[in-house]
Amino acid sequence: MTHAITQQPPSDGSKALYGGTSSRRITVRDIARAKDRGEKWPMLTAYDAMTASVFDEAGIPVMLVGDSMGNCHLGYESTVPVTMDEMTLLSAAVVRGTQRALIVGDLPFGSYQEGPVQALRSATRLVKEAGVGAVKLEGGERSAHQIELLVQSGIPVMAHIGLTPQSVNTLGHTVQGRGEEAAHQLLRDAKAVQDAGAFAVVLELVPAELSAEVTRSLHIPTVGIGAGPDCDAQVLVWTDMAGLTKWPGRTPKFLKQYADLRTALGNAAKAFAEDVVGGAYPAEEHSFH
Ligand code: KIV
Repeated sequence: MTHAITQQPPSDGSKALYGGTSSRRITVRDIARAKDRGEKWPMLTAYDAMTASVFDEAGIPVMLVGDSMGNCHLGYESTVPVTMDEMTLLSAAVVRGTQRALIVGDLPFGSYQEGPVQALRSATRLVKEAGVGAVKLEGGERSAHQIELLVQSGIPVMAHIGLTPQSVNTLGHTVQGRGEEAAHQLLRDAKAVQDAGAFAVVLELVPAELSAEVTRSLHIPTVGIGAGPDCDAQVLVWTDMAGLTKWPGRTPKFLKQYADLRTALGNAAKAFAEDVVGGAYPAEEHSFH
């Protein structure tokens, strides 16, 4: 299936984040200009060089090496066990696999909650050893001091509020910001991360009307996941987007699957196995003499 690009490119189309022609790496300054132009943009997660290279060639301007790698790549039950070593290894692979996308490395649980100095140590490692262009961390007001020190130190930060999966043990997986007090807190969190210097903020599982209000009130872009259509950008976990993730029950309401890789890959594996068992592979043309 092909998807028409309905959005009008900026008058200088070469600068568009998606569909632009510039081949240098995208920076946080390009992201800020896109918000000024009212341009929407897509973000996907990536955890390895080969998949990242496919998304880079497809023009995805921002990739997140998310701690969702815990569930989607490393076989953990949540994001909580992901370590700095794992994040650094996979972020470096994604950087190596890409030429144009801005690569954002996630700070895993336990790598920044102690305070700004711990956050700076962890973020510095991702920038120096993996080569990421920015880092992401969870939390609004509670993470503002960490964001401030990273930004002052020259490390661009994407914040993440609403449902923050590292807090799964306290928040569960429910929509956030429902009710007057929760909505006010979400707005306070959004303002706090912007004031601390974040260049963008992920809104996860937030009612669409509230996301729209946050998006209107901030000068930095909002990146929605389960946060309605009015965010400046949208992010999906790539294995969810491409139909590779195996869901124990129903797929989440916010998810749209753009392929069925789980079936395609399973069928390819079965066809290979049957060829081997039946003697059809390797054939004459696959053999050396
Ligand atoms: O780790 C991740 O993939 C994320 C996205 C869901 C935003 O944080």
